[in-house]
Amino acid sequence: LMPSALEVMGDAPVIPVIVLEDVAHAVPLARALVAGGIRMLEVTLRTPAALACIEKIAKEVPDAVVGAGTVRSAADAQAATMAGARFAVSPGYTHAIGKACHDLGLALLPGVATGSEILAAQEDGYTALKFFPAVQAGGLAMLKAWQGPFGDVRFCPTGGVSAANAAEFLALANVACVGGSWLTPADAVKNGQWDRITALAAEAAKLPRPRR
Ligand code: 3PG
Repeated sequence: LMPSALEVMGDAPVIPVIVLEDVAHAVPLARALVAGGIRMLEVTLRTPAALACIEKIAKEVPDAVVGAGTVRSAADAQAATMAGARFAVSPGYTHAIGKACHDLGLALLPGVATGSEILAAQEDGYTALKFFPAVQAGGLAMLKAWQGPFGDVRFCPTGGVSAANAAEFLALANVACVGGSWLTPADAVKNGQWDRITALAAEAAKLPRPRR
């Protein structure tokens, strides 16, 4: 079953942005996040192991919903789907990516950072968007400015979001959830500190989303 983009964004306050170098880490990491209450997992296509990691999580962690991040082409979307990804996240937006995900039945959270990019995504039917890189591209003030002209769009700000500022983003009416890498510190993954990751996930899962 494939979730919609809004369902992906609505499941928990945080979508973890995951970088996996070693296939052996995929299943214990996914289980650690699920144990903390975070099920929507974005595994970035940034490492040679990424697709194999998505495949393993899809097969072996039924309580997780694994997606592919860093989707930069139609070919990436195709490969992610073949591996078992159930949603895609892109760092920007092109019509080719939008069409590929639509044709594959793969939910897409397209990355946007300008009004023109929001309009292009909306033209292709996408209204649940990732704001990337959120802090670097204008942060809270940018999201507030978009509430006027783009009041129907829901955002997942990602990039520079952390435990320290996530609540401020989540307080905004046009923010459905946030994304970030802070739930999966590289050293914790490398050293198999799964309990530490479960604790970070549990903290993130408790973050308030006031308008709900
Ligand atoms: C990324 O590009 O890795 C994601 O946007 C996560 O960014 P972050 O490390 O600032 O959370």
